[in-house]
Amino acid sequence: MSDADIASWPAAPRGIAFGGDYNPEQWDERVWLDDVRLMGEAGVGLVSVGIFSWALLEPAPGRFEFGWLDRVLDLLHRHGVSVDLATPTAAPPAWLYEAHRDAWVVDADGRRLGPGSRGAMCPSSPAYRDAAVAIAGALAQRYAEHPAVVMWHVHNEYGAPVSQCHCEHSQQAFRAWLRARFGDVDALNAAWGTAFWGQTYASLEQVRTPAAAATMLNPSQRLDYARFSDAELRECFVLERDVLHAAARRLPVTTNFMATSSPGTDYWQWAREVDLVSNDHYLTAERDDAHVMLAMDADLTRSLAGGRPWLLMEHSTSAVNWQPRNLAKRAGEMARNTLSHVARGADGALFFQWRASRRGAEKFHSAMVPHAGTDTRVWREVAELGADLERLAEVAGSRTRAEVAVLWDWESNWAAASGWHPSVDLDQRERTEAFYSQLWRDGVSCDFVHPGDDLAGYRLVIAPQTYLLSAQSAKNLDDYVRSGGQLVVSYFSGVVDEHDAVHPEGLSGPLGATLGLRVEEFAPLRETQQVRLTGALGELSGDVWAEHVVLDGAEVLAHFADGPATGGPAVTRQRHEAGTAWYVATRLGACGIEALLAAVYAEAGVVTAPPAGGLEVVRRDAAEASYVFALNHGEEEQELLVHGTELLSGAAVAGRLSVPAGSVRVVRTDPHPSRR
Ligand code: GAL
Repeated sequence: MSDADIASWPAAPRGIAFGGDYNPEQWDERVWLDDVRLMGEAGVGLVSVGIFSWALLEPAPGRFEFGWLDRVLDLLHRHGVSVDLATPTAAPPAWLYEAHRDAWVVDADGRRLGPGSRGAMCPSSPAYRDAAVAIAGALAQRYAEHPAVVMWHVHNEYGAPVSQCHCEHSQQAFRAWLRARFGDVDALNAAWGTAFWGQTYASLEQVRTPAAAATMLNPSQRLDYARFSDAELRECFVLERDVLHAAARRLPVTTNFMATSSPGTDYWQWAREVDLVSNDHYLTAERDDAHVMLAMDADLTRSLAGGRPWLLMEHSTSAVNWQPRNLAKRAGEMARNTLSHVARGADGALFFQWRASRRGAEKFHSAMVPHAGTDTRVWREVAELGADLERLAEVAGSRTRAEVAVLWDWESNWAAASGWHPSVDLDQRERTEAFYSQLWRDGVSCDFVHPGDDLAGYRLVIAPQTYLLSAQSAKNLDDYVRSGGQLVVSYFSGVVDEHDAVHPEGLSGPLGATLGLRVEEFAPLRETQQVRLTGALGELSGDVWAEHVVLDGAEVLAHFADGPATGGPAVTRQRHEAGTAWYVATRLGACGIEALLAAVYAEAGVVTAPPAGGLEVVRRDAAEASYVFALNHGEEEQELLVHGTELLSGAAVAGRLSVPAGSVRVVRTDPHPSRR
């Protein structure tokens, strides 16, 4: 979808969309009247309808009952509420399970996952695909021209709760996918290294999905199976999307991502297929840094959207009900969460869900209208938030820009999880969070990028642990450095190629020349072992990992002072004519990352603005104005130096802006001279 299309998204309402999943089928029709009245009170302008309604919309194969949905959409329209209409294909009806046992998902242990829950039919099964396309087509035909409907919501969180299947349809589809990828069995044998452990196949017909086996399965096979499983889900999406696009009125089509929490979907590829990126985010409530992880999720979502505005499709007003201990949000936390997403590019914020369910698996999940009704803190905060978002309407369409990028690659994550590795403590996600958190603490905005992306606009790129790196992507990183970029690479990066084979150059792979070194041998540490580092960055420590690094041009910034690699390089820097590549051979703690990045920022010209007292400041830019979001996550009032107009109060700000503990202020200022 082009920028021009996005600018007009959604056709209504304008500004920052506000609302949630609306599941009226769970309620008596009299409640619907109360719903629309309350939606009006809270300023709700967009609701997602019908996500789990397949069994009601099509109670028997080919027999559609749209009457109730007609009434819901008409009612919403009369009350000025727009609809993000869902295809209900994440909740196949009982009749589909009954008629097509062959379409049940089979897990790696051979168990067949039956009905009674949601979201699990084999994406490769013809019966499921046909039925999904049929219901999507019927909805498109009936509702594309309904004035309430402004966009389509396909399925729900593809890949959740299961993204992989081992049934006979999947076996066949996997082999077809492999045939398309490799052409013949010899190429597959070579790519998968099947000479190891006598796994050589005589024909593609012998290949099966990597299900239960005696011991470790072939990691390359598992990696390709992850790619295949993702591709099958994406094909299902594309089938539905195309049916919706073909309708009489062409509306934007989305499907809700789970940016940092979906293991099975390569959203870089999905992002190319949707008209609009939308995302669901739930705090891990017990984490003290949950707001930092929220920021990471939102930054990744914006990056998936290519910097364009995106839609927060779901978050929660208070507690969820599926974590071990579901902490309720504190006063003000919901608005702070919502506005953190908006600060990072969301042009809409919706919740799961409108009204708390009395029955079913999610009856203890918070909602916009809680069980306790409207004389409640949650409801009052919901209504206030709706009003606040209206005041921020002019922010819609503006962009959040970053000068720093962090690599994020689902394929590398899959490869990292596909085999025996030198230490169980290797953890790509942990390293990504660690580097991201330091950027957050330094007040440095960042984007996420695929290792093969154009990096030219960034002053600094961080590879927290990119185990899988194709030679082509490695060249991309090398080109970036040689044309003036600053690259930070943490250990266990660039080790294998796209088939999970160790690079011919050895353990430091094709990044060796970029980094000015060679990794001779890994030397992982014991579970609680720490190593001391000495050198120009000060006295630091590492754990989890050490390795024997042989220098080939790089200078040493820190040495291992003890442990298995004593005396060897632990942190290095290779200066090229224009740019610089930094390497870290152990797991630095927060202090180590802070010291390292401080040195890197100085060379990269990255300006920091640490969130003093928990006051996070994020900017969105438009041609005519900049919007400064000041989010106080701390316990005390903070002050920000800024000039402009505070949009939530309408007050002029002449220099000093007070931001009370826990609250958010948004200031329209003069446009920022972009440095990119
Ligand atoms: C989401 C899902 C919603 C609801 C919500 C509860 O992952 O899309 O339907 O289950 O979680 O937090």
